[in-house]
Amino acid sequence: MEANNYCSTGSIMTIFIAENPLNYHAVAVSLPPMHPMINIAVRAARSAGNILLRYYEHTNTLTVTEKRKNEFVSEVDKAAEQAIIEVLQKSYPDHAILGEETGSHKGNDYQWVIDPLDGTTNYLHGQPQFSISIALKYQGQLEHGVIYDPLREEMFSATRGSGAFLNDRRIRVTQRKGLDGALIGTGFPYRDHSHLDAYMGMFRDMITDTAGIRRPGSAALDFAYVAAGRLDGFWELGLCEWDFAAGALLVNEAGGTVTDIGGGERFLESGNVIAGGFKTHAAMLQQIKPHLTESLKF
Ligand code: IPD
Ligand code: CA
Ligand code: CA
Repeated sequence: MEANNYCSTGSIMTIFIAENPLNYHAVAVSLPPMHPMINIAVRAARSAGNILLRYYEHTNTLTVTEKRKNEFVSEVDKAAEQAIIEVLQKSYPDHAILGEETGSHKGNDYQWVIDPLDGTTNYLHGQPQFSISIALKYQGQLEHGVIYDPLREEMFSATRGSGAFLNDRRIRVTQRKGLDGALIGTGFPYRDHSHLDAYMGMFRDMITDTAGIRRPGSAALDFAYVAAGRLDGFWELGLCEWDFAAGALLVNEAGGTVTDIGGGERFLESGNVIAGGFKTHAAMLQQIKPHLTESLKF
């Protein structure tokens, strides 16, 4: 399968914020007892959430740069990532970090994978669907994940082997038997159009056989919604690891299945992904299969 070439971090960007223009403050969190690393991730997500909320009503005043065609980044994305890193490094100075905006920070076998603002396009247009996504991998395996929607104050979290939660409530994927009646989420291609024809074929067949398709605009939240049973399934081509590392763990811990678009396990690498309850996922795979081009297959 082709490597996903669209996942460059912001570290290659020329724009640079010399000072902290946003002057943010972290807030305390209170959650039921959980793994200490999840508590730190929650604290980091809330800190970033405060920044996103502070500027949400004033996005027209923000400095926005186009990283590549249709890929925007604002000073809020960067400040939010900085806030997350500060919180994480205070507790875990030796951990490695992969941040969408600051790139790779070397460390030990633990690696935090951060999307400080998933749904930047929505955010910049004042659309209330965006989130913060933070995952922790140990020796390459997903261990913890949080996805935070600061507008709705919804904190989705998961720890490998311990289930998935929305705030302090356990969540599960739906038990739907297939596509009939299913509500499916997706992301439309908007940067890389090389798989557009294949995607349109998938989209057409998915529209025909389901109850409906949604394109909310924050892949991290889409995964969280699959985990919470608000969507029966989700698929997208060309995601980056930080978009859905936490989301993939959430769906798995909520009893769902996550694979790449061909049914294999290398979804974090390819970014072409299908997620859902067991039977919905299987039905989506079948629906998508006829549209897989050679470059989308292994
Ligand atoms: C984007 C969102 C969007 C998805 C894109 C992502 P960003 O993340 O998750 O829903 O369709 O593929 O890149 O750029 O807003 O962090
Ligand atoms: Ca993202
Ligand atoms: Ca982002």
